[in-house]
Amino acid sequence: MTKQLWNKGFEPDKMIERFTVGNDRELDLRLARYDVLGSIAHIKMLCKIGLLTEEELSRLVPALEDILHSIESGEFTIEDGVEDVHSQVEFILTERLGDIGKKIHSGRSRNDQVLVDLKLFFRDELKRISEAVNRLFTRLQSLSEEHRDKLMPGYTHLQVAMPSSFGLWFGAYAESLTDDMQMVVAAYNIANQNPLGSAAGYGSSFPLDREMTTELLGFSNPHYNVVAAQMSRGKTERAVAAAIASVASTLGHLAMDVCMWMCNNFGFVSFPDELTTGSSIMPHKKNPDVFEIMRGKCNRLQSLPNELTILTANLPLGYNRDLQLMKDIVFPATDELVDCLDMADFMLSHIRIKENILDDPRYDYIFTVEDVNRMVVEGTPFRDAYKKVGMAVQEKRYKPTREVHHTHLGSIGNPANERIADKMTLLLKKMGK
Ligand code: ARG
Repeated sequence: MTKQLWNKGFEPDKMIERFTVGNDRELDLRLARYDVLGSIAHIKMLCKIGLLTEEELSRLVPALEDILHSIESGEFTIEDGVEDVHSQVEFILTERLGDIGKKIHSGRSRNDQVLVDLKLFFRDELKRISEAVNRLFTRLQSLSEEHRDKLMPGYTHLQVAMPSSFGLWFGAYAESLTDDMQMVVAAYNIANQNPLGSAAGYGSSFPLDREMTTELLGFSNPHYNVVAAQMSRGKTERAVAAAIASVASTLGHLAMDVCMWMCNNFGFVSFPDELTTGSSIMPHKKNPDVFEIMRGKCNRLQSLPNELTILTANLPLGYNRDLQLMKDIVFPATDELVDCLDMADFMLSHIRIKENILDDPRYDYIFTVEDVNRMVVEGTPFRDAYKKVGMAVQEKRYKPTREVHHTHLGSIGNPANERIADKMTLLLKKMGK
């Protein structure tokens, strides 16, 4: 026997139910606690505007809190035949409280219910992501300080270019994460608006107090226009996906660097044996599978905005069931990203750095600009100094002085890590009250 909130006396075809519900029940379990929190705020508001009595409210709230406990203890399930979390919660209430349970849906629709759930869920997920980003950020900053003076080659066109350092390399990824954090904060701000009261997407003839539910749910403001509130389904997910993709692009890039620096031809970094993987045929192999999987996962995560854009492009205004499919794209992605961030943090806590890399004669030419600049300081015009050093290289008589003296803001000798940390602190403060 199927149980639909919209049951009007006919039994919908089983095939239709399977196809339209899909794996939505499992995905909805992640929304369950937010659904209950949304309902508690909604019924408090219904009581204030006279659609529920104080007595009814005093029976409904504990019953909803009970459901909340069952969700937190992992006992809550969405039964077979029940379409979604919104229906399940209403069924439980009606089962336990009879007619009172049937009153809670006044002035709302599953359309604004799922919207509220998603906004609350994304707020928490974005906070979780920001915490994981910050853990990796802190690791990178401390590695940057620890290896501040260890030089490594800098490349352009993948050709040896100029001296760089492990301090700059680690510090660069830390600062790059602050740019990603701007995207996380932007997504958070878009999610942090209350759609409740938009009902099916066009509001209600009840005098709903939307300021009250906004306050109760801790949103920064209502999504005022009810149609805009419904339009935020899709828009919010795309903002979240853009933030995820932004972090993933930084992390994927870092993973690629590690794979390359671990390559025997570079050999700049290594990891303890137990953090590497082997080959079934080549006994000597110590492979960087962790960073390869990370690179692959991060590349996939970067396709999220695209996937969502294609799924939602040209949908008509108002609710459309296609929107349900976004959960399947975004929900696993937040877990995947946090997993990758934590894995990167773990691996980097064990990274080993090769010292004195630039003493190898293969990097002799990396010092040409240092030598040109020294001549400039001593009075030679830049182009003349460039020519002199260039000719010495060309005629194979160039001998590097191997002295690196970079002092300006953000350079090898002055990576400005404290200022970068300030940027991150400021951004983290914007995540939640
Ligand atoms: N599972 C649905 C979703 O995610 C809930 C909303 C259903 N609304 C409707 N009008 N069928 O979109």
